[in-house]
Amino acid sequence: MCGIAGYVGPREAVTVVFDQITRLEYRGYDSAGVAYKNGDGIKVLKRAGKLSNLKQLLDSEKPKAQMAIAHSRWATHGGPTDQNAHPHFDQHELIAVIHNGIIENYYELAQELKARGHTFKSETDTEIAAHVIGEEYEITGSLADAVRRGVKRLRGAFAMVAICKNEPDTLVAVRNASPLILGIGSGENFLASDIPALLPYTREVVVMEEGDLAVMTRDRIRLEDAQGKEKLIQPMHVDWNIESAEKGGFEHFMLKEIHEQPDAIRQCLSGRLLKDGGVQLLNCFSDEEWKSFERVVVIACGTAYHAGLMGKQMIESVLRVPVEVIYASEFRYNNPILRPADLVIVISQSGETIDTLVALKLAKEHRAKTLGIVNVVGSSIARECDEVLYIQAGPEICVASTKAYSAQVATLALVCLQMARKSAADQEKIFNLTRELQRLPNLMETCLERESQIAEIANQIHRAPLMFFLGRGADVAACMEGALKMKEIAYIPTQESPAGEMKHGPLALVESGVVAVFASTNPLTREKVISNIKEIKARGGTVAAIIFDSDEQTAHEADFVIRIPHVDSPPIGAALSVLPMQLLAYHVARLKGCEIDQPRNLAKSVTVE
Ligand code: G6P
Repeated sequence: MCGIAGYVGPREAVTVVFDQITRLEYRGYDSAGVAYKNGDGIKVLKRAGKLSNLKQLLDSEKPKAQMAIAHSRWATHGGPTDQNAHPHFDQHELIAVIHNGIIENYYELAQELKARGHTFKSETDTEIAAHVIGEEYEITGSLADAVRRGVKRLRGAFAMVAICKNEPDTLVAVRNASPLILGIGSGENFLASDIPALLPYTREVVVMEEGDLAVMTRDRIRLEDAQGKEKLIQPMHVDWNIESAEKGGFEHFMLKEIHEQPDAIRQCLSGRLLKDGGVQLLNCFSDEEWKSFERVVVIACGTAYHAGLMGKQMIESVLRVPVEVIYASEFRYNNPILRPADLVIVISQSGETIDTLVALKLAKEHRAKTLGIVNVVGSSIARECDEVLYIQAGPEICVASTKAYSAQVATLALVCLQMARKSAADQEKIFNLTRELQRLPNLMETCLERESQIAEIANQIHRAPLMFFLGRGADVAACMEGALKMKEIAYIPTQESPAGEMKHGPLALVESGVVAVFASTNPLTREKVISNIKEIKARGGTVAAIIFDSDEQTAHEADFVIRIPHVDSPPIGAALSVLPMQLLAYHVARLKGCEIDQPRNLAKSVTVE
């Protein structure tokens, strides 16, 4: 995810802010830049690629400033280029802005600004925000007022910092969902998007709250809430070491990324799932093309393949459009049947998995229309596809994928809703899918709040020699992913399958000590699942059931119960049940002392066939 840094005080400011963004390097980025007061104006230096590219530029310019901002960018709107790197100027180059997050209404604002004669140098939503603040500055003549008024015109989740050539020792920062932290010094002040960037300089920090605006000079910080009311500065003392700070205080990146899922989904849906329930996928196929697709073929590996299985559940049940999900490594050698009216969706977190890339090229040779669902902007798969939807989940560091999975599923739900416009889709299912997708981040938060109960269950079952992951319908797709997490990080052999298949063979493996994790989130199949639970228990197995809060019937049968909030759209309910499975795998692995973030024998990005 992007990194923000800012400094005002007696030290050489550009050196300080460059050091700060270096400390956020572990989060991933693809370009970087700084802005500082230089003579009468503001100088912006920025470069695509590694921080060393920016460093070369800084070494040749030798900036001298007492106030500076810096940004490391992880591309969302517009590829990773010099022009798209932050900071961005307003129309008159009076104000420079850095920004994390997404401005949802950037497109409408860009049209308005263009009509008033504005021209843009980048493809970013950030530059639009800078121009909006610039317009407000023309009216108010005060940077703080301009930011205050400007952010009211912006919609989305963002953290933003602005400086102005006419106010050489003031930084104005605003937080709207994305994190921003103020660092309190003596005769100097700092800010950053993440605590590790502040720790070498100060351990007294203020975490800005939603809607807060800060006006920072070297001697003072005025902090105000969304209504403009001044707030008392109450710093908290941070005593973490740098390593645990990088993990946001979590013990592992995996746990951090599991907890980032509500925000990752907010970012993913931002600007795409509109408040009125409409879907807007900008620059992604024409309406005619969306209408022309008669079948969907999903190609992916690993977790991304499992997201594809959940997509199949959604698209087939809501749209009645057939979906085939194929392992990328199999696609190439199975002489695939592709037709002109097929939409080929290629899912990949890294965008670099070689099996998936090769399969994509083959699909293109068959002249199929291709859509990439990718996390890493500018990656090979993203570049190769006809169209791409970025999942906007932010960098994923743990080898085992968690937040990318959820954001892939959410993106497939958007595709489903987009396609629903054309077909004789089931209106009630569309309505439910839309509503539950809107609620998904909050539902996830509720699941994550129950982590301690899951940790306790992990404590009871972590010695199991074998675990089954069983469900029906969309819950099977969820179980495939839950089982993969358990294998990957806890090294427990698993068998994942439709619950109804147990009696055709796998039931022979059940004996005392074996654990079966059931996901049961569809009331229509509840009673059948209860029969399957009884089959396991009758043979000495232990059952942990992931069920809705309201499901007393199943709760009565299981040894352990993990509750999730009730959801009215089966694929969304099933996708939600993956979160407790991620947490269960995490806590089992932790109890077993496994290497969680980098499991043995596995790699994050697999570039060999
Ligand atoms: C590797 C990773 C998995 C991932 C799979 C596909 O096996 O360890 O977590 O799901 O590759 O990766 P992709 O980047 O294409 O989604």
